[in-house]
Amino acid sequence: MCGIIGYTGKEAAKDILINGLKQLEYRGYDSAGIAVLDEKTGIVMKKRVGKVAELEQAASGESTQATCGIGHTRWATHGGVTETNAHPHRQGSVTICHNGIIENYKELTAEYGLKNILNSETDTEVVAALLDKFYEGNPYKTIKKVIDLLAGSFALCIMFDDQPGQIFAIRNVSPMVAASFEGGSIIASDLTAVINFSKKYFVVPEYHILTLSQSGIDVQDLKGRKVEPEILEVNWDITSAQKGGYPHYMLKEINEQPEALERTIAPRIQDGLPFLEDDGIDDEVLKNLKSIVVVACGTAMHAGMVGKSLIESKLRIPVTVEIASEFRYKDPIIDSDTLVIVVSQSGETIDTLEALRLARKKGCKVLSIVNVKGSTIARESDYVLYTHAGPEIAVASTKAYTVQISAMYILAARIGYVKEILSADEVRDFMTRLSGVGEIMQETINSSNDIRRIANHIKTAPDVFYIGRGIDYTISLEASLKLKEISYIHAEAYAAGELKHGTIALISEQVPVIAIATEESVYAKVISNVREVKSRGAYVILICQEGKTESEEVCDKQIFIPKTDSEFGVFATAVILQLIAYYTSDAKGLDVDKPRNLAKSVTVE
Ligand code: M6R
Repeated sequence: MCGIIGYTGKEAAKDILINGLKQLEYRGYDSAGIAVLDEKTGIVMKKRVGKVAELEQAASGESTQATCGIGHTRWATHGGVTETNAHPHRQGSVTICHNGIIENYKELTAEYGLKNILNSETDTEVVAALLDKFYEGNPYKTIKKVIDLLAGSFALCIMFDDQPGQIFAIRNVSPMVAASFEGGSIIASDLTAVINFSKKYFVVPEYHILTLSQSGIDVQDLKGRKVEPEILEVNWDITSAQKGGYPHYMLKEINEQPEALERTIAPRIQDGLPFLEDDGIDDEVLKNLKSIVVVACGTAMHAGMVGKSLIESKLRIPVTVEIASEFRYKDPIIDSDTLVIVVSQSGETIDTLEALRLARKKGCKVLSIVNVKGSTIARESDYVLYTHAGPEIAVASTKAYTVQISAMYILAARIGYVKEILSADEVRDFMTRLSGVGEIMQETINSSNDIRRIANHIKTAPDVFYIGRGIDYTISLEASLKLKEISYIHAEAYAAGELKHGTIALISEQVPVIAIATEESVYAKVISNVREVKSRGAYVILICQEGKTESEEVCDKQIFIPKTDSEFGVFATAVILQLIAYYTSDAKGLDVDKPRNLAKSVTVE
């Protein structure tokens, strides 16, 4: 959601900023802009509604050689998608880009009489106006003064006309990382725009003022004390964030799943048992927990639901899965006996982060399952279990989902072991089977040709229903989200047994129903539900284990996953459902990786 970049160095900034914005496109946006500052010629600013390519085209006529500038991809929150509302925003001698929401911008506008000077409808321009109003030649003092007035979340990159070659930055909640390198400094919303310059970086600490210049980055807290931020190193390179010959990131990321699982699972096995010592996870906490609450959003929340299904059935420990945006406003019933597991690919989702803070305030230990190293959620948790999916660029989450499930499984195995609910042999057997899921996924990927034909069939459907029971129901929730978000087809997931309580009224001739029936214990029950929709004219696609061939009376099409125990079938099933969504979106000619209205990481409420 919104991408920010700032560069100052020896090279011309314009192209660097535009290329950086291209790296940030995946975060989701609807307009883009850059501003470069040159000592002699002053500010050159370009903004466009639409893609970064359009901005690039518009900026191609500018021959500026300015070596310092800021850029932005905007995902509209305050004010429509217009060129005026796009960032950067400029007031007087101040130019800024902002990610986040200034909650009190209306009050500030009134209090400081800014109404008549604002050009846009944005909250951001109010910050620019305040900075300009208070500026008397000392950027640090001015920023500090304005920050004290702001309520909300922000990542700000600021340029003052009389400070050429310098970018000032500050953040609260909204993420930013920064790096200095031979000949310059760079700051951005995430690493994808930084990694071309340096593999060493730091997470911008909240409420610290950064001054970026050609010679490095100065970091000071709000008391004016110099701070040395912790330098981190990325363990992937830019090729991981490129398409690598695939037509879309999503397809690449679906194909990367076996490897990502291997990277996440293998280092956590020692002597056949789940091993979390290197992650710093305290066995005592696992041993003493009485209940678990999983908090997350979207796909990450669906991964939590799969975890719940496993933990409750195998360990008989109660697990509640909460939507983070609900959890944070409902005074949840949790205490120090509850382990709160927070799941997030980005580690920056605002509702998940606030839920984490609430849980800690209530005295719970928080363990997070996070993909992005050093992200805010990871840093604020008591314990972190990193997934090693590598960068996930497509907005639709795929590999992050399956590695999150694998992390929940490892955790479940360790809890079962330390609480002595499962014997060492049972846990070893479980871990052996978990280690095999990558191979099963690969097999499924290799035999997925048929799925393209299915996508052709459903691409014209106005509605698609997913049904399943138990763990298959939780997977169907994720499947319907995936189809909705990238194909724009209305899709619903239903517990198969619930159909007759209302939804079956929507089933008519040719409505595709994707039935997931990989769980042996409820297979026959799901087939009865399938017969019910089939006899009302639905086009039924049945996903089940090899060997369960059904007649045409039951379904129109079958897709098989390799034979495996029910709790591990989720990995292969996920591949099939991800590919159905992928091929459907592609067959409709849609922008698979960057679906409309969506952002990769939701950093505003
Ligand atoms: O970064 P997070 O895992 O916290 O993101 C949570 C959701 O926004 C995310 O899973 C979203 O639902 C997916 N992009 C959907 O594919």
